[in-house]
Amino acid sequence: MTLRLGDKAPDFTQNSTAGPIRFSEWKGGSWAVLFSHPADFTPVCTTELGLLARLKPEFDKRDVKVLGLSVDPLDSHERWAGDIAETQGSTLNFPLMADADRKVAELYDMIHPRADSTATVRSVFIIDPTGTVRLILTYPASTGRNFDELLRVIDSLQLTDSQKVATPANWTAGEEVVILPSISKEDADKLFPQGYRQLKPYLRMTQAR
Ligand code: BEZ
Repeated sequence: MTLRLGDKAPDFTQNSTAGPIRFSEWKGGSWAVLFSHPADFTPVCTTELGLLARLKPEFDKRDVKVLGLSVDPLDSHERWAGDIAETQGSTLNFPLMADADRKVAELYDMIHPRADSTATVRSVFIIDPTGTVRLILTYPASTGRNFDELLRVIDSLQLTDSQKVATPANWTAGEEVVILPSISKEDADKLFPQGYRQLKPYLRMTQAR
């Protein structure tokens, strides 16, 4: 199945380093990041999982649960977690699914056969509290992900869900945002009492509240 932005994230049950997970129950009303990586005991993935464990407090702050997936079995994940702790200085503090039967990998289209016939690519899905897919990213096996970028997108999604704004190129939290072009001047004057800079009728910059 091809997933697209706006689709409901398919539910599943799979075993993980934190025990069996039924996705919808585990996620509840929080945000979630679901991500895959090619295989256990691989160098880039080792750095990714170590970094993500260190960044977990940043995801917690935003009410985002983190769930990883590899198509290797649980005993392999458990042995690999020891290497991650030893080499990255961080203990795995989020569940890593053992998707040896590829149930979730296939449900989320994480295997791209012309890139690799068996391993998952580096897929990322950001799913909102209603269970809707809000971001899909696919990285090649040879490129480790930028987890600051995921936090940046989460900040943008959470902000733009609550105010009639969008975030410009390379925006990071605290910087100016743009007022949605669909907002009339009359409404903009009411909605943004802090004021805004109009560069063009469709390009109005303001400070988010
Ligand atoms: C890695 O995670 O290090 C990796 C996996 C597959 C191909 C290249 C690198």
